[in-house]
Amino acid sequence: MAKILPQPSAPGWLAEPKKRAAFHALLAAWFARHGRDLPWRRTHDPYAILVSELMLQQTQVATVLPYYARWLEIFPTVRALAAAPEAEVLRAWEGLGYYARARNLHRAAKAIVEQHGGKFPRTLSEIAALPGVGRYTAGAVASFAFDLAAPIVDANVARVLARLLDLALPINTAAGKNALWSTAEVLLPDAGENGASPRCFNSALMELGALLCRARAPQCLLCPVRAFCAAFAAKTQGQRPVKTARRATVLLQEDCAWICDRDRVLLQQETGSRWRGLWKLPPLLPAGVSPPGELPLVQLTYPFTHHRVTLRVFRAEIPHAPLADQHWQPRAALDTLAFAAPHRRALRQLLKLHADPALT
Ligand code: ADE
Repeated sequence: MAKILPQPSAPGWLAEPKKRAAFHALLAAWFARHGRDLPWRRTHDPYAILVSELMLQQTQVATVLPYYARWLEIFPTVRALAAAPEAEVLRAWEGLGYYARARNLHRAAKAIVEQHGGKFPRTLSEIAALPGVGRYTAGAVASFAFDLAAPIVDANVARVLARLLDLALPINTAAGKNALWSTAEVLLPDAGENGASPRCFNSALMELGALLCRARAPQCLLCPVRAFCAAFAAKTQGQRPVKTARRATVLLQEDCAWICDRDRVLLQQETGSRWRGLWKLPPLLPAGVSPPGELPLVQLTYPFTHHRVTLRVFRAEIPHAPLADQHWQPRAALDTLAFAAPHRRALRQLLKLHADPALT
């Protein structure tokens, strides 16, 4: 099939079926030999693949591995997930962060049960219509589960393609993204084309980005497709991909209260969108006034978009009446509640300190 080049400056070989076939063959042979044996590559179950892709969106493979296995034990099917209460879903996600992903996965499972009779949809447009499923995730599920010819562009693929094209456009702009998605589409083999498959091709391209075509110190001399790479030829691989400058980091402070009454701790359940349903230590009141001369019991920092937040926890008095979203929780129940990750870290340290009677 004739393919249209993504942009006038794209390398000419992209339009030549024989060259594309050579590219597919070299990449597939490398992947067969060097690709990692990851659990979501051993299955074609679209539900398991959706779980893995949502987990992998902001989290590294090594962190995801135990969560993925545990999730599929707790919720082995779409129906099991759809039937679970939200608190249980958030608890199983705890520690992975970006809880919107867990909520979206839950909503997607409910939509599959309610709108598709529990059978995972098998077309790209139906998969893309599931809640929280964007273009990348839809392409990943469609190609990995059903071997459909759907392109994918994630951070790894974007880096590989930007170097193959020697793309000078920043990849975080609309024009840059368009160039990447159309290149991914042009390069994608149809199922069965020269023995290649969209499933294998997409996995291999992503793996090349993860293992060799890395952001820093790309391993070009080990790369199976360096002969096709415009950046390698121009020696610009270190300058690709181009990105527009990131926003400056803003420092924030979050002061919380450690309030205990015998074996109970006062906690607050979040109602805001980012951490809705999750438990946190209550904010120190009055807000913005740190206790004069008092040292925090615990202090830690965590990133949040372009912010760097310092979370400090101070001992505080038992209030006369807790606020509406504040509740006393027995210490024995703390492990069963889903916490915002930085607050769980602080809580662990507080409970260690709390073993010291001077601090209770
Ligand atoms: N990152 C996102 N999706 C992935 C996948 N399927 N395998 C490895 N890393 C990934």
